[in-house]
Amino acid sequence: MTIKRTVEDLALFGGSPVFVVPRSTSNLLQPDIELFLEYSKVFHIQGQYTNNGPNVRLLEKRLATFHGVSHCVTFNSGFWALALAMSVLAIEGRSEIVMPALTYRRMADIAAWIPLKPRFCEVDPITLAMTRATVEPCINEETALILGVHPIVNGCDIEGLEQLAHEREIPLLFDSVESVYEGVATGKVGGFGNAEGFSLHACKLLNGFGGGYITTNDGALAQRLALLRGFGFSGLDNVTIAGGMNAKLNEVHAAMALASLEGVEAQIERNRERYHTYQRRLVQVSSGMRLVEFDTRYPTGYKNIVVELLPSWPLTREVTIAALNAENILARPYYSPPLHRKDLWFPHLPARLPVTDRLAQTFMNLPCGHQVSSADIEEIVNMLEFLVVHADEIRERVQSGGDE
Ligand SMILES: Cc1ncc(COP(=O)(O)O)c(C=O)c1O
Repeated sequence: MTIKRTVEDLALFGGSPVFVVPRSTSNLLQPDIELFLEYSKVFHIQGQYTNNGPNVRLLEKRLATFHGVSHCVTFNSGFWALALAMSVLAIEGRSEIVMPALTYRRMADIAAWIPLKPRFCEVDPITLAMTRATVEPCINEETALILGVHPIVNGCDIEGLEQLAHEREIPLLFDSVESVYEGVATGKVGGFGNAEGFSLHACKLLNGFGGGYITTNDGALAQRLALLRGFGFSGLDNVTIAGGMNAKLNEVHAAMALASLEGVEAQIERNRERYHTYQRRLVQVSSGMRLVEFDTRYPTGYKNIVVELLPSWPLTREVTIAALNAENILARPYYSPPLHRKDLWFPHLPARLPVTDRLAQTFMNLPCGHQVSSADIEEIVNMLEFLVVHADEIRERVQSGGDE
C-alpha cells in the first residue's frame, strides 16, 4: 500500500498508484471452481457441448425457479436475448421503441438490429429510472414496444409501466440485466411485462463468462425464442420459422452460470457487507458525495456502487475520475454520455432530455464486486478523502497542465 502525503504522491502527477492490480466496477465473480468443474464433467462425459445440452437445460430450469416464472430461454449474450425478444414482441408495422437515454451504452444498437427506432424518454431525477410519467409522452401510433430498463441501483416503475402498456395495448419487455436479484411489492423481477431479459456476462451478478436469458410466463413466446436462437430448427434439418440465427448458449458457459447461481446467496451477503462499508465510510468523506442507497424494503443484490457528486464536491467529475483511475481505482461516469447525445449510425428520433442531461454529468460508479474487498474500499474512500483535502492544489496543478 502506498501512503500519500502530498499531491506529488498522486499517481496523476507521477506517484505510485494505490493499487497495483486495478479495482474495477465489473463484478468478475469467481464461483467455486470445483463446482464449475463438476458441471463441466457432465457435458464432457455425455459428449454434448452445445445445441441445448444437459447444462443448458438444467440452467434454464433453475433460472425459471429462481425468478418464479414458468419459462427461461438462454442465449449467447444479453444483447441477442433482448434483440430476439424485441423482434418477437414488437407490434408489426410499427417502427418505434421507447427506452431511456440514461442507460447501457449500446442499448440503442440492440434495437437497430430489429430494426426499431429508439425514442428516448426522460428519467425520474430521484430514482434515475423511467416511470409511467416519463414514458407516456413518448407513446404514439408508431410505438411498437416499450423497453422498461432498470437503472444500476434499484428498479424502474414496474407497476406504472405495466399499467400503461396494458392501457395502450403495447408490449412491454424489461431489461433487468442490473436487477437479477431485485424484488418489488408485487413480486420478484423475472415475471413482469411480457418478458424480461438478463445477461450472464462476467461483469454481471451471475457470471457465465458471457451469455444471456429471457424469462417469461408466455409459453408460446418461449417456444418461438428457443426456435429463433437455433436457426429455426425444429428437429433435424427442419427449419420451421424465418429469421432464425445461431444465438445458443454453449455447455461450458452454462456450467459456469450454474456454479454462479449456486453461490448467489453467499455473493449477496458479501455485496451487502461491502455496500455497508461504503455507506459507513462515505459519510465521513464530505457532504459533497452522496451514495445512491439500495431500497432494502425488498430483496436486492447490493451489486453496484453509484455516487452523486453534489455542487459542494470540490473537483469536477472528470478530474475526480482521472485522479482515481491513475490510482488504478477504475471509477466510471454513470451512463455518460447518454444515448441521445451519442453519434448513432442508425435511424433514431431527436430528443430533448434536460433531466437526463443534468444527471449524466454528476453521477459515477465506484469499484465493487467479487475482486474488491472491504479493505480495498477503505483505501478507495481514503483516496476520496485525500482528494477533498487537497482539492485546491489538485485543481491548480491540473489547470497548469500538471496531469500531462
Ligand atoms: C443494461 C444492460 N442491458 C444489456 C446488456 C447486454 O448484455 P451482454 O453484454 O450480455 O450482451 C448490458 C451489458 O452490459 C447491460 O448493462
